[in-house]
Amino acid sequence: MRMYDIIKNKRDGGKLSPEEIKFFVEGYTAGDIPDYQAAALCMAIFYKGMDADETTALTLAIRDSGDTLNMDFGGLRVDKHSTGGVGDKTSMVVAPIAASCGIKVAKISGRGLGHTGGTVYKLEAIEGYRTDLSAEEFADVVRKVGVSMIGQSGDFAPADKKLYALRDVTATVDSMPLIVSSIMGKKLAANDDCIVLDVKVGSGSFMKTQKDAEELARRMVSVGHNAGKKVRALITNMDRPLGLAVGNSLEVCEAIETLKGGGPEDFRTLCLELSAHMLCLAEKGSVDECRKMAEEAISSGRALDTFAKMVELQGGDPRWIYEPERFPKAKYSLEVHAPEKGYIFRVDTEKYGEVSLLLGAGRSTKEDKIDNTAGFVLAKKTGEMALKGDLIATLYTTDKPEALEQAAELMLSSTGFWKEAPEQMPLILDVIE
Ligand code: URA
Repeated sequence: MRMYDIIKNKRDGGKLSPEEIKFFVEGYTAGDIPDYQAAALCMAIFYKGMDADETTALTLAIRDSGDTLNMDFGGLRVDKHSTGGVGDKTSMVVAPIAASCGIKVAKISGRGLGHTGGTVYKLEAIEGYRTDLSAEEFADVVRKVGVSMIGQSGDFAPADKKLYALRDVTATVDSMPLIVSSIMGKKLAANDDCIVLDVKVGSGSFMKTQKDAEELARRMVSVGHNAGKKVRALITNMDRPLGLAVGNSLEVCEAIETLKGGGPEDFRTLCLELSAHMLCLAEKGSVDECRKMAEEAISSGRALDTFAKMVELQGGDPRWIYEPERFPKAKYSLEVHAPEKGYIFRVDTEKYGEVSLLLGAGRSTKEDKIDNTAGFVLAKKTGEMALKGDLIATLYTTDKPEALEQAAELMLSSTGFWKEAPEQMPLILDVIE
């Protein structure tokens, strides 16, 4: 078998056999297939797509590219995975809520991808927090506190680790079969009993239309069901950033505020909803009963204590969780003001994600250093009225003060004002079983 023929077959719209897909995934993981051929195949898949059989074969090959987590975590394991968005910090809230309600959350999170931030980058803003635990340490934290959140390390779905990084720099992230296989390959290797998928739709998501997001959700749910897992997908609004804060430590602080019972309304609502569905899949009750349990986990302080305990067990200082003012602040900031009077009609959320990257919150090359203080905090969200000169957002950076003006221009050119209020898309658009 030759990689050249596999690329040509897909380029010409052919169907790849499970053997060809396995040959590619195994060869690329082992380093026998170079990046340029893998990139060419990803681009061919981006243009020509993959049918259900091919997508399943790619998912299973990614699952089988490394170890699966088969150890005993001490209870039923439920996970939540998002397809990626801007300001999406839900994992840091829903995982401790679910764990403090008695289920186990052994969470393997991603780094930033494209314009979206990754949970691992956010957690690494907590000084000392280790995202590179060994499998034994990971299981130990889950057994002790009910939850652990780490990065994709060691021999866990190594094919996805390589493909994820390659897609990020070859403009091949937003391909349905590549997203399905990346997420479900990891989830099947993680071997959770139940999975709640948060499938984002809108200008800040990889899926721009509800039709595409529903198709993506159905494909992931179907791959999960075929592998014997309980899977449910929520289609949620990513036409505006989630919450107000975007950027690593800014988002950790917003997650902490939410665990303390505050936080922006859209973000708090989505966290409660996702937690409720996780608990419901674990048969803790109906969605309504589980939502009440989730609310109680926050109001009693149990979810916050669970998060702090996890941080401590993974090498971080729990005082940072109880006193988030300990997080270092950005050296430089710039306020962005409304250039005219009007309702914020629509924002290009993907460009907002790029604003945060410009300020230093993510990496453009593998060598780039991440500035944990970088990002922005919105003062007004889509649908709100602004008078000329009103504060819209404050931008923050320590390492890239020279980028502040350009970032402010990008934010303003990505924000549409109009004399009438826009029709608001609901936060949760659908639930797919
Ligand atoms: N999250 C993933 O893990 N993979 C993707 O391809 C997109 C979002």
